[in-house]
Amino acid sequence: MKKVICVTGGSSGFGYEVSKILALKGHTVYAGARNIEKMESLKDFGVHVLELNVTKESSVKAFVDHVIKNESYIDVLINNAGYGAYGVSETQSLSSIQAMYDVNVFGVIRMNQQVIPYMRERRQGRIIQIASLVSHVSIPGISHYAATKHALRSMSESLRSEIRPFGIDVVQIEPGAVNTGFEEVALGLIEPTHEDYHHFLSSFKTFIKKSYKKGPSPDSTVKAMVKASLIKKPKWVYRTTLDAKIYPIAKGFLGLKLYSYISSRLIFKARKKKN
Ligand SMILES: NC(=O)c1ccc[n+]([C@@H]2O[C@H](COP(=O)([O-])OP(=O)(O)OC[C@H]3O[C@@H](n4cnc5c(N)ncnc54)[C@H](OP(=O)(O)O)[C@@H]3O)[C@@H](O)[C@H]2O)c1
Repeated sequence: MKKVICVTGGSSGFGYEVSKILALKGHTVYAGARNIEKMESLKDFGVHVLELNVTKESSVKAFVDHVIKNESYIDVLINNAGYGAYGVSETQSLSSIQAMYDVNVFGVIRMNQQVIPYMRERRQGRIIQIASLVSHVSIPGISHYAATKHALRSMSESLRSEIRPFGIDVVQIEPGAVNTGFEEVALGLIEPTHEDYHHFLSSFKTFIKKSYKKGPSPDSTVKAMVKASLIKKPKWVYRTTLDAKIYPIAKGFLGLKLYSYISSRLIFKARKKKN
């Protein structure tokens, strides 16, 4: 049956691809992001394109009101908008950290609070949260980004139990490092820091570039997003890449101390190999 699906962050990466595929399958898709011109081409596939800034309550409300006015209901909300601002925990500016939380955590809360009332009234709906491998395991250099995804995972766990009685599913998607251009934004937002951290940061940048270069294409994650949107009984969690499947198990198996030691060694090894 044809579904009404809203996708946040539809202007690139996972959000662009999933909007396109769901529309090609005949569903009514509304994609939102700030860069509306980057979504122009989605119109060719039948996607409805709207400006959306998840950090602004008025923008979120206007987006949801528009969909409700045209369709009367929303079957699926995909909370995909998000980005990484990498850097050193000690010196990353509070404004950079807060801006990231405003999208990755509060942006999701804003969307959910606008959409859930309509789903609750209908006693049916599905919310898909795009979290990450780093909602389970973290490495140095990404502490605040990982914390936003940990927050999202905790949110999903509680939310699921709160709204299941109203027929609303909460599904979490957990990709590892995937080639979407995500890392270029994340590395580009690293701020200048104390020289004590320069050696670490240089290794970290090499490690991240290498990990993403050999990382998988968005296909498996987009496929899981489509499946989670459409099948009758979705899983609660989809880990969509090999690293996302292995790392959380490895951390449990190795224990926190050994896991932290090995992940730090891997980062420094990346730089040595380069030199
Ligand atoms: N790629 C990976 O390795 C990876 C791994 C795990 C999880 N993830 C998660 O997957 C999601 C999508 O990332 P991606 O890899 O597809 O990266 P991407 O291509 O950079 O996409 C990010 C999307 O978020 C949107 N966005 C950012 N700020 C926004 C705001 N204030 N309001 C509305 N939309 C906003 C961007 O659109 P505008 O800039 O046009 O607004 C863009 O469409 C993110 O939540 C990310 O954390 C990615």
